[in-house]
Amino acid sequence: MSNWTPEKTIVNSWNEWDPLRHVIVGKADNCHIPPEEPALDAKVPEDSDMRGQWGKRPQETIDRANELLDTFADQLRARGVKVDRPTPIDHSLPATTPDFHTDSQFGCMPPRDVLLTVGSEILEATMSYRCRWFEYLNYRPLMQQYWEEDPNFRHESAPKPRLTDADYHDDYLSEKIGVEKRLQWTADKFFVTTEEEPLFDAADVLRFGRDLVVQHGFTTNLKGIEWIRRHFPDHRVHAVNFPGDPYPIHIDATFTPLRPGLILNNPQRRLPDDQRVMFEKNGWEIVDAAQPAHNAPPALCYSSVWLSMNVLVLDPKTVCVEKSEVYQAEQMDKLGMEVVEVDLRDAYAFGGGLHCCTADVYREGGCEDYFP
Ligand code: NVA
Repeated sequence: MSNWTPEKTIVNSWNEWDPLRHVIVGKADNCHIPPEEPALDAKVPEDSDMRGQWGKRPQETIDRANELLDTFADQLRARGVKVDRPTPIDHSLPATTPDFHTDSQFGCMPPRDVLLTVGSEILEATMSYRCRWFEYLNYRPLMQQYWEEDPNFRHESAPKPRLTDADYHDDYLSEKIGVEKRLQWTADKFFVTTEEEPLFDAADVLRFGRDLVVQHGFTTNLKGIEWIRRHFPDHRVHAVNFPGDPYPIHIDATFTPLRPGLILNNPQRRLPDDQRVMFEKNGWEIVDAAQPAHNAPPALCYSSVWLSMNVLVLDPKTVCVEKSEVYQAEQMDKLGMEVVEVDLRDAYAFGGGLHCCTADVYREGGCEDYFP
């Protein structure tokens, strides 16, 4: 007879700032630039060097990114944070379901995009790109391990979407739309994804204890937000949008909570006044983030220069900031945060910054109500 008995708490994290004790850090192994597909094309800026490229990323860039991610993991361990790493699947394999086919997958550098930790639960997001449909598999060995060790761990997976052409607006697929039109569409909340079925990426969600703040944009639709609301009935779920962003995917280079009462907001992507009310009524301050130190993203990078504010908060007084982002570090210092410098810019192209390349497993503390 088996004597298997799960007996310790592994998974617990309710917000973006309580003291971090256990985290997943992604890997760049075998990362691919996926072939064209509707949602991905809509995100790549029209003047980007990414346009028209696909295939395995150059090995020397993969090695360099892994060197930086390994060093970041060591820095976290040196501060007493337990670090787990994914088991990369073969991203060169095509992804085929009865509904779609794409010739390659993406990678597993940004676990934050896929895994949403809420209390003792880790939820695998639906995802909204075809090339990321199977990305959860990179984390299954860890999920299985947590499940076996932690009797309270809830491993959940949102319904896999069909991602047929009906999930994407044709209008977004023409070659040159232009930033002005994109901004108008964003202001009108007309995004590349339709309301065919619930879609969300985990990186569109920020956790504030009892409240979840979710960006409505390219990668998360209203049905996705409604699905999250029904899935977490004890939470209040708030849809937000940022009209200044022509490519609205993932909230974590736009809106960055640092500690109870303090949030950085991208000054080009201001939270509309009517959506500020819950923060203002409860005495939260929303301050403009400092300017990025760079005028352009690194080569073959999907993200904007605003990865400067994609920081990882270690506790309400300590924050990891990318080493070259000197203005962001200076602002953190003025806001009373101790800054831990982390060299990560050469890994940005693999899926983001310090917040993107991590996913919470354990932070101290419980579920507080910050907006009573
Ligand atoms: N919307 C984002 C992605 C952030 C991780 C950007 O600014 O590129």
